[in-house]
Amino acid sequence: MTTAIKTPTKTDKSIHQQDSENQRHSSNTAAMVQLRSVTKTYTNGYDALLDVNLEVKQKEFLFITGPSGSGKSTLLKLLYGQELPTQGEVMVDDCNVAALRGDRLSLLRRRIGIVFQDYKLIPQRTVAENVMFVLQAQGYTRKEIHRRLEPTLKLVGLLSKADCFPDQLSGGEQQRVSIARAIVGTPPLLLADEPTGNLDPDNSWQVMQILQKLNAFGATVIVTTHDEQLVRRCNHPVVQVRDGQLYRK
Ligand SMILES: Nc1ncnc2c1ncn2[C@@H]1O[C@H](COP(=O)(O)OP(=O)(O)O)[C@@H](O)[C@H]1O
Ligand SMILES: [Mg+2]
Repeated sequence: MTTAIKTPTKTDKSIHQQDSENQRHSSNTAAMVQLRSVTKTYTNGYDALLDVNLEVKQKEFLFITGPSGSGKSTLLKLLYGQELPTQGEVMVDDCNVAALRGDRLSLLRRRIGIVFQDYKLIPQRTVAENVMFVLQAQGYTRKEIHRRLEPTLKLVGLLSKADCFPDQLSGGEQQRVSIARAIVGTPPLLLADEPTGNLDPDNSWQVMQILQKLNAFGATVIVTTHDEQLVRRCNHPVVQVRDGQLYRK
């Protein structure tokens, strides 16, 4: 399938920016994420997180750093309900994630965009199809899907690659497709698990600039990384995971 992409006109405004303007009157100080005395013990008895507390406010940008195996991915998995806390509460957007099942968990997940280190694109689908797929699965109308597709691809700089397949793209471009897929539904919370882990410094910086732009548009963004240089280059709060504990840096 090919997808016709019309050239954006000057009056087209990013749907991402529009959503942020709609939310402008909402409070900046409300919590988007709260971990309350959370312990995560895996079935092998390993404590990935031990009685930790964390609050991330709406519209904040937070880095989570820490050595490999320290629990960064575990923390994000708790936020989107892929793992359940052994003890304590994980609150996202005022919902107790562990208490949600079925449709209510699906609804919360629609409000969370997720970006992975390894992109997780569907190889047989074009860039546009990979991005639209999420909205199709959520029952958006064709018209709404097309309204969202173009500004999203434009935001990640891939409008001209809409009809390419993932294997025709560089790693940096593939990661930008995966960001487009994560944000096309304009979720208020964006989680990125080592999004630059497979990228060179230039591509890493491009990805970080996109994530920061989304944050400027109003999304709450949480990024795990062990790239200290990248963290220093951006001026955002940092929480380090070490020995099951969280440390503000
Ligand atoms: N499903 C699992 N079962 C058992 N142990 C796990 C599981 N997932 C992660 N772990 C362990 O929990 C610790 C934290 O893992 P993870 O959150 O993936 O760390 P990071 O993302 O910081 O590299 C590691 O020691 C890892 O081996
Ligand atoms: Mg990890």
